[in-house]
Parts: sequence; C-alpha cells; structure tokens
Amino acid sequence: MTKEQFEEGLAYAEENFLNDQAAHLKVDKALIRQKFDLTNKRILDFGCGMGGMSLWYATNWLCEVHGLDIDNHHIKIANQIKAKHLVDNVIFEVRNILEKPLAEKYDYVFLNDVAEHIPLNILKEILAQLGNSLTKGGQIFVTYPPWKSPYASHVTHAVGIPWCQYLPDGILLKMIEKNNMVLVGDEESDLIEAYKGLNHLTHEKLIKAVNGSGLSPVYRKSHCLLNKVKPLKEINFNFFPLGFLVTKEFLLLQKN
Ligand SMILES: C[S@@+](CC[C@H](N)C(=O)[O-])C[C@H]1O[C@@H](n2cnc3c(N)ncnc32)[C@H](O)[C@@H]1O
Repeated sequence: MTKEQFEEGLAYAEENFLNDQAAHLKVDKALIRQKFDLTNKRILDFGCGMGGMSLWYATNWLCEVHGLDIDNHHIKIANQIKAKHLVDNVIFEVRNILEKPLAEKYDYVFLNDVAEHIPLNILKEILAQLGNSLTKGGQIFVTYPPWKSPYASHVTHAVGIPWCQYLPDGILLKMIEKNNMVLVGDEESDLIEAYKGLNHLTHEKLIKAVNGSGLSPVYRKSHCLLNKVKPLKEINFNFFPLGFLVTKEFLLLQKN
C-alpha cells in the first residue's frame, strides 16, 4: 500500500466514522439509529473494512465493538483512526473466521456492504458460524446493494452509468479498464477485480444462504429512491419494476 493509498483510505474511513451524512452509509446509519439501542451491547462488525462503522457504533453508544476483517491493509487504517481519536471500546482484528472460528458471543452482528463480496457458498458457512456466535436473542443485520440496484456494480462512479451491470461484460470491462483505479486492500486490487468479485446478491440468494443456518429473517427493508418522498418513506418497493430503484436492502436475522 502506497502512502497516498493509505492517506486516501484514512480520509474515506474517517468521513464514514464522523459524518452521519457520508454518502454510502447514510441510509444504514439512519435505520440503525431507528431500530437498535446498542447501549451495553457486544457488537461484531463483520467485514469492518477500514473501521468507519465500528468506530461510529463505539462512539454513539456505550458498547463493546469487535471489528474484524480478512484484509490486513484495511485493519491497519482502522487502527490508525482508533488511535487518533482515542476510542477505547473497539478492537480491530485481521481474521478469517473459517480458519479461526469465533469463540466470543455477540448481541448484534453487522455486515455492512460485505455480503455481496463473498462467494455464496462461503457466505452460507459464515452466516451459520455467525448465528452460533449470537447471545440468546442476538441478531444479525445484513445490508447490501441488491444486484438490481443502479449502483450494484460498484463501478458506477467510475464509468458514469447506473445499472451498468446489465451491459455485456466485454463492453463493461473495457469501460472499467479505461477508468480503472487502484483500491486499498490485500484482496481487491482494482475496480476490475472488485467488479469480478461480486456475487450478484439478491434477496432470494441471501435467503438461500441463510436457509439451514438456524437463522430466520425477522425484518426486511428495501430502501428505494421513492422513499425520499415523505409519505412513501416506509413502503418497501421491492416489486417489478420499482425493484430497480432499490439502492439498499436490509435484512435482520435471528436464531430460530
Ligand atoms: C466494501 S467493504 C465494507 C467495509 C465496511 N463494512 C464498510 O461498510 O465501510 C467489504 C469488506 O469486507 C471484507 N471481507 C470480505 N470477505 C470477508 C471475509 N470472509 N471475512 C471478513 N471480511 C471480509 C473485505 O476485506 C472488505 O473490507
């Protein structure tokens, strides 16, 4: 990781930590504030990346946060921000839970924008293990951009075309190549790798991954662009054709 990449990652994660209005997690934060009281809870931020959300949980509630990620570079940045802001109630760790299973129990496990990056067969194994790591009544909250979303490709900002995941792969990959950029991290080294690493997650695929894990969905919210109109705020527009306007899916899981 170059010094510039490190600085860029740091600025991005710090913005996610400190600013509730920061673009890609704004809706997540509003919904988490509305649905959860994390006071005195033990939280696992699975796939915490550069730690923005872990630090946000830790400083908005009196709680204990464990942020873990398989990416060494991301955790390095997370630890740097933790030290800079003197946040004591969060611990960051590089860990692959399939190689080193969790022994601890958590009241809440969050997967913010993680599930769409993990191959579905591995996601199934991970969810089963996370289910076993819950305290009695504990819950798992999974948030992700569904594959129909205008931004699901994770490259819209670079190629300038929403829903570009529906372009033929050859054309899209050429467009990404023209606007390619290096990403901070051990695993996804540039936008092309990031795009190829997506599992095209939908609600139906996630439910399939959850089945057999001993977990059941207890709440779903599909955040649609139409929810910005106040009287329509609470409506789930996850049906054809409005499903294409859903930018983020939220699924809350609980042990059976
Ligand atoms: C798009 S980032 C999201 C980071 C953070 N949750 C956020 O919202 O800012 C996805 C993260 O998931 C991590 N990840 C992917 N597969 C993982 C796995 N099997 N175990 C732990 N972390 C994983 C990646 O390393 C990356 O940091």
